[in-house]
Amino acid sequence: MLNLASKIEECLPAELIDFMRDASAITAKRRQNLYLVGGVVRDLLLGKTNLDLDLVMEGDAIDLAQQLSPLYPGKLTTHPPFGTAKLQWRTWSADLATARSETYCKPGALPDVTPGSIENDLFRRDFTINAMAVNLSPDKYGELIDRHGGRDDLGHKQVRVLHDRSFIDDATRIWRGLRYEQRLNFRLEIKTLKLLRRDISILDTISGDRIRYELECVLNEESPEKALRRADELGVLASLLPSLKGDGWLAEKFRQARQLYGPDSPPLVLYMVLLAYPLTDEEITELISCLKLPKPTAKTLRDTINLKNRFDLLADPEITPGGIYSRLHDFSITAITANELASDSAVVCQHLHLFKDKLRYVKPILTGNDLNNMGITGPRIKEILNRLLAARLDGKVSSKEDEKRLVSGWLAVTN
Ligand code: CTP
Repeated sequence: MLNLASKIEECLPAELIDFMRDASAITAKRRQNLYLVGGVVRDLLLGKTNLDLDLVMEGDAIDLAQQLSPLYPGKLTTHPPFGTAKLQWRTWSADLATARSETYCKPGALPDVTPGSIENDLFRRDFTINAMAVNLSPDKYGELIDRHGGRDDLGHKQVRVLHDRSFIDDATRIWRGLRYEQRLNFRLEIKTLKLLRRDISILDTISGDRIRYELECVLNEESPEKALRRADELGVLASLLPSLKGDGWLAEKFRQARQLYGPDSPPLVLYMVLLAYPLTDEEITELISCLKLPKPTAKTLRDTINLKNRFDLLADPEITPGGIYSRLHDFSITAITANELASDSAVVCQHLHLFKDKLRYVKPILTGNDLNNMGITGPRIKEILNRLLAARLDGKVSSKEDEKRLVSGWLAVTN
């Protein structure tokens, strides 16, 4: 039997290893077994560090979490109906769950859960590569449990379901499968691929919130365009909305977005907006509703498309900086960035860039207080500040005295 104790030492930080040892000391006293499961085991076998600890025990996991929480002071969250708990302390976190079996009463529904053995718990999982466990009990510490050939599948670089009803039980696994395949540079095993194609329509039974979560997981990948291209090729993206495309254009725009952000990843909403960029107004409305997008994201999507529809106002090479400012200052920066990345017109891109880089930071020297001291009150203050800003952007004023003179001139006309 393969023992992963040395891999654990290699790939996980000491604080998490101590945590697992403390947890297994508690469960061992009760003659219960504790296991490390899921993605972290997969990644240990691949020699990768994964800090998302998923622990499963054959017994009450909430009770275990409550005993551990004084040793690891932080935040404890429990979900009694599922027998799960989450401990968060310092920069770390661990999920603890009672081993369980699951049954699905109908496609799209959440499962009914009953306590079970580690074998039951592994059998309910999505793919063989995620259905392995490491025993953490002191006398069997590090022993790999691999009942479904997960290690072989890792070796063959394939993503394989455990049984024919896997996608029917949980169609979100369709998205998950594409994500693992593309992240790990694996292939969906041939029968799994057939089942996936067979079950794509079951995605329609999944709630908008759950599909949105899956899409967000894809967009959080290092190169989300890879899973989106595959989702397009297999018709998974079209099942969400027929006009969505995971094509070369999108891949190029995602790459440019990453370049723009350097070492940081681009914000998820920028990826979302680029994915939705080719859609019409009606399709955007449909996407917002079928993914139940939160209000700020929906607003940024609409903002982006409104700006795209108004490019004619920005395409004139002669527009002054003040003119650019007045056309753009109401749009969000994400909408401006997305359009800058997506527009084909060099002039439009130049104007968007100028606004984003310089114009939006420019302010008049005179303040609202100064204007007030000059006898201006109410909404006129804002109006005059905007006119002053335009004058400043267009180079008509450069000092405080210039600004005062200009305002006095305006006042003389209106008085
Ligand atoms: N799981 C599952 N079916 C799902 C979601 C999760 O079987 N629809 C199981 C898998 O065994 C998975 C584990 O729960 O490994 C934890 O889920 P999650 O944290 O989403 O997956 P990770 O494997 O940790 O994936 P990632 O590397 O993307 O975080």
